[in-house]
Amino acid sequence: VVRNYFSKRIGWDVGETDYSRLLEHKRLNDPAFIDLTLSNPTQADFSYPQQKIQEALSHVQPYQPDPRGCLPARVSIAEYYQSHARKIHPGQILLTSCTSEAYSFLFKMLCDSKDEILIPFPSYPLFSILVEAEGVTGVPYPLARKELPGWEWDVASAAANISPATRGIIIVSPNNPTGTTLDDEELRQAIRWSAHQRLAVILDEVFLDYPGMQRAGNPIQIAEEEEALVFVLGGLSKCAGLPQLKLGWIVVGGPESIRQQAIQRLSFLSDAYLSVGTPVQFATPELMWIGKDIRTQIQIRIRQNERKLQEWCEANPAFTIFPRPGGWYAICRLPDGEEDDRFVYRLLEDKSAAVHPGYFYDIEDINAIVISLIVETKILEEGLHRMAALF
Ligand SMILES: Cc1ncc(COP(=O)(O)O)c(C=O)c1O
Repeated sequence: VVRNYFSKRIGWDVGETDYSRLLEHKRLNDPAFIDLTLSNPTQADFSYPQQKIQEALSHVQPYQPDPRGCLPARVSIAEYYQSHARKIHPGQILLTSCTSEAYSFLFKMLCDSKDEILIPFPSYPLFSILVEAEGVTGVPYPLARKELPGWEWDVASAAANISPATRGIIIVSPNNPTGTTLDDEELRQAIRWSAHQRLAVILDEVFLDYPGMQRAGNPIQIAEEEEALVFVLGGLSKCAGLPQLKLGWIVVGGPESIRQQAIQRLSFLSDAYLSVGTPVQFATPELMWIGKDIRTQIQIRIRQNERKLQEWCEANPAFTIFPRPGGWYAICRLPDGEEDDRFVYRLLEDKSAAVHPGYFYDIEDINAIVISLIVETKILEEGLHRMAALF
């Protein structure tokens, strides 16, 4: 027997591309390099109350593991949702070490091997990896392309991709990078349809605190009313600008009996890992409080950068910026005849500036680039200046 050491699930091509090689080279060797894809708030010159964060994290005793996470942490997360006008009981919340772990728990709970999960596109590129790592099949479904605001969630598109093996659907609101945000009416339609198909809804709301022109609906109330099983994902990484502290959560919504079953199963799984550290759990009430100011700084930066980008597009009308329903990315359409992959390579090679090509997020029908709106404004301005100088 010739055995293979490795599973087929993790057989991805991890080879370098010309672009990734050049990016690494520029990062390491070019002092003029600037990164307009930066999505890590701890590296974007926001002011963090270092001392207060350290004090909050100083409680390390006792170790009393609760698979759902310690109660005060869950209470503070329920209070956070209250500020979003949502009524959530701490018993509906389960802590995880990040959103990726939340996804892995949900796929384990919902899917047997070869079952399917509907994944939106354009969206977060990590989804296909997260599903495959669990032995689950990700089935892409497109957001509908609209002239304005750009992309919309579309029930017909989800319906066209469902099969008897489908167990759940991922919806990201606000979506990364299109910002697509489902209001109450759209969310009700999505949740009602999913309940009718007996699909669980995984609603990724990590960008909930960064609204643009669209208001997000209330999934927990809708889940109860529509008797649907809905899992809402959030975390400190975006809502408090603290990705390094590794705390995410799942809120379980739906009618009492099914909700309890889901919470029991998730707790059982979580008990096998107990991956959320005690210091961060104890610190969560304080961190939710500290996070408000960090979040405000990020919100201000996003709006300021968005204005800069709009002004720049007015001065450079061959580029068009899509309006932002929510989230912290901007999508900018390239001048006619510019291919996104060639453009980002040229910008990096000639001008030492990195932006993401639209294809990276499966934006297929137009040539666009994606820019993070949390980068320092002077870096954004310098990047835009370099982009204009390419022509
Ligand atoms: C849609 C979406 N979900 C989840 C995450 C990751 O969140 P976490 O840091 O909690 O794993 C990201 C990160 O950019 C994201 O874009």
